[in-house]
Amino acid sequence: MSNPAADRASSVNSVNSERSIRVLKPRRAAPEAAVRPTRAEIDLAALRHNLRALKRVAGDARVWSVLKADGYGHGAPAVARTLERAGIDGVAVALLEEAIELRDAGIRAPILVMGGYYGDAYEELLAHDLVPVVYHEGHFDALARATRTRGVSDRVLVHVKIDTGMGRLGVAPEQLASLLEYAAAFPQIKIDGLMTHLACADVAGEEGAQSIRAQLAEFARARATAAAHGITPRYVHAANTAGLLRASVDAKLDAVRPGIALFGVAPGAAEDRVAIELRQTLKLRSEIVALRTVEAGAGIGYGSTWRAARKSVIATVPVGYADGLPRSISERRAASAMLVRGKRAPIVGVLSMDLATIDVTDIAGARLRDEVVALGTQRGPHGEDTIRVEDLARDAGLIPWDVMTSISRRVPRFYREP
Ligand SMILES: Cc1ncc(COP(=O)(O)O)c(C=O)c1O
Repeated sequence: MSNPAADRASSVNSVNSERSIRVLKPRRAAPEAAVRPTRAEIDLAALRHNLRALKRVAGDARVWSVLKADGYGHGAPAVARTLERAGIDGVAVALLEEAIELRDAGIRAPILVMGGYYGDAYEELLAHDLVPVVYHEGHFDALARATRTRGVSDRVLVHVKIDTGMGRLGVAPEQLASLLEYAAAFPQIKIDGLMTHLACADVAGEEGAQSIRAQLAEFARARATAAAHGITPRYVHAANTAGLLRASVDAKLDAVRPGIALFGVAPGAAEDRVAIELRQTLKLRSEIVALRTVEAGAGIGYGSTWRAARKSVIATVPVGYADGLPRSISERRAASAMLVRGKRAPIVGVLSMDLATIDVTDIAGARLRDEVVALGTQRGPHGEDTIRVEDLARDAGLIPWDVMTSISRRVPRFYREP
């Protein structure tokens, strides 16, 4: 559901930040309703920066921003609004429901619905001017029925998906000709795009490159099959972020579909990528709500899995696994930390549902209400450091996509315009 109030800028300043920032009202809670100091801050300038950087790499190819799963956890309406103002060519989502949320929020850019599952809601596709991805005969039947019911006179645009190796969604290349012959009976439906999805674009080295080449070759054959049926769509597209950034293979075609890079993460091995500077858009911050000094040998948290090796100062932070922080970071103690006063404080004890405990013994001056950063950058008296989504994902044994999309709905999102 859209919330018009979400758009309005307010002059709320973020607590404990060194410089004054303008914060837009959060989508899920008003600032005054966000009693707990835990929140996600989305840096809209970083988002625009990442789009510009991706556009430079994309060259003449259109950039369709992938904003499924609530804009990778950032809040899809606000992200889409920002990107639309910055000049995106289109948006891609997985679900019809996600597309409708964006239309309800006033997004006018073309929206591609990639999931291929429209239930009984084909008329909604037409009502909201959405572009469905299709890959079987039933899609054409149902769309044609919906155009009749709604009395639509314009041709409905669709993109046909071909499974060139992902093994997930799409028509098999050997069945494409028969699908296109079937589609020819529906003059009211126009095939405006052909798409496929790369399985190994972020696999390192020659193995990944070979896989992309093989899929692109299969896709080129599919394109030729379409041309033989008189179909020359405006958009032929294959590349996700890793495909777009791959240095040794050009997978750009007419359009690209980056998701994760918009939020600052470049997947795959650095040596496989074109040079690009991305900025993390997400900061997950809270504050110290309790401090205690414990003697050597004291246990912390469920199961007392961590015991103080020395007299220690332990800070309690109101962020837990129910906020989307993976519990596994606290089981891999060596690397996991949060930032306090610009310095890393190790996470100690296992993460609880609502609370984390960190060791601030070596953080001089740490006190109640100090800002704690679980993800993102912090500047403070002890310096400046960043906890990157990639680092947290690695510590947790997860992937960055998983970390971003897991930040739960009880964490209010604030949109920052530095
Ligand atoms: C079909 C399709 N295209 C593009 C993307 C964007 O991928 P990424 O976030 O890796 O750029 C996704 C996301 O998984 C996808 O499913």
